[in-house]
Amino acid sequence: MAHVTVIGAQWGDEGKGKVVDWLASRADVVVRFQGGHNAGHTLVIDGKTIKLSLLPSGIVRPHTLSVIGNGVVVDPWALIEEIERVRAQDIPVSPETLLIAESAPLILPVHGALDRARELERGAGKIGTTGRGIGPAYEDKVARRGVRLCDLAEPPILREKVDHLLSHHNALLRGLGAAEIAPAEVLARLEEVTPRILPYAGAAWERLDALRRAGKRILFEGAQGVMLDVDHGTYPYVTSSNTCAAQAATGSGMPAAATGFVLGITKAYTTRVGSGPFPTEQDNEIGRRLGERGREFGTVTGRKRRCGWFDAVMVRQAVRTAGIDGIALTKLDVLDGLEELRICTGYRLNGEVINRLPAGQMAQASVEPVYETLDGWSESTQGARSWADLPANAVKYSRRIEELIGAPIALLSTSPERDDTILMRDPFEG
Ligand code: IMP
Repeated sequence: MAHVTVIGAQWGDEGKGKVVDWLASRADVVVRFQGGHNAGHTLVIDGKTIKLSLLPSGIVRPHTLSVIGNGVVVDPWALIEEIERVRAQDIPVSPETLLIAESAPLILPVHGALDRARELERGAGKIGTTGRGIGPAYEDKVARRGVRLCDLAEPPILREKVDHLLSHHNALLRGLGAAEIAPAEVLARLEEVTPRILPYAGAAWERLDALRRAGKRILFEGAQGVMLDVDHGTYPYVTSSNTCAAQAATGSGMPAAATGFVLGITKAYTTRVGSGPFPTEQDNEIGRRLGERGREFGTVTGRKRRCGWFDAVMVRQAVRTAGIDGIALTKLDVLDGLEELRICTGYRLNGEVINRLPAGQMAQASVEPVYETLDGWSESTQGARSWADLPANAVKYSRRIEELIGAPIALLSTSPERDDTILMRDPFEG
């Protein structure tokens, strides 16, 4: 049975929510494998808007198991709040429908405090993080001092770990002029939340292994996008996890070969939230128009997204580094009515044209896009359900994208409605 891994092919916010929801309706299991509550997915189901951040999109379906894998950083308080919020919308959440890897690292209050204090200290050079403590929690995991979900079941170990963690971080907080955090306070808060979160903990890898062997369909739900990957993105303006498809395996405890078809969600133009290089950014009327028509505001932080032309160099690089088998092209309708469209096909750097985003920070900041100009279309593409419904120039634009990035369009989304989707290739059929 084929599985599917969905990842973002740009800087996040590509419209994963709708595509993931559409695929989740046909999956038995939905697994989150990286990131945390920095992500934000909005689902519209039977006219009800449901906002998810840490919970996998499968949660809205009573017969689908949702799994939070070991690669995710879990803020217990944010999780409980989200569970309560979706329950209030008549969506049942129980250990029958939600399983959290017992080895998942926890985001503690100190992580959020550090994240925000560091951003303040960086001033103009800030990363523009979501301030949710994602980076500091991953740092602690790699530094081998992190507190994991399973530690809640072992109080003596938990006390030792919290003491150790805070003796490290309080020194930093002091240095940053921020308030210190008392271990007893954290332990008391953890004690409160333990009975509410431990019932969901278990050996996620083992359960997933059994489900895979039983022929169940698994959907791996990525967050953010390849250009925010800590290794392959625009470092240091990235998130602190691997956002590429390989992480679906390590972040869930599944074999690399089991993660199936990799679907890269790709917006028909480009956006980015937070700081960092953005070669095709349009800080002008075009950018404003894309932002308005595309309603480009962050789901988690409400920040205005930066907007620009489609960058084929970046997406081609994402296709190659992340192993994308096919893309879902989203928000094509935002381009309706533009007289001409530009696609970036290369970068000019020191008088030469290159076909990749360089790794150096100065080089990344100074590349100039080389554009190809295509005719736009005046007709509406919104709600189109087949290629034949699309204006000829919209088809040309989409086909040119496929050619330049070296990956086929598996599906094309033409509005936020689930059924406004043109399917070329079923990712579950491989
Ligand atoms: P962090 O993940 O909060 O550490 O933020 C690091 C960078 O990733 C910032 O530029 C954020 O704006 C960006 N980021 C984090 N999560 C998302 C997301 O879900 N969509 C888009 N950008 C994100």
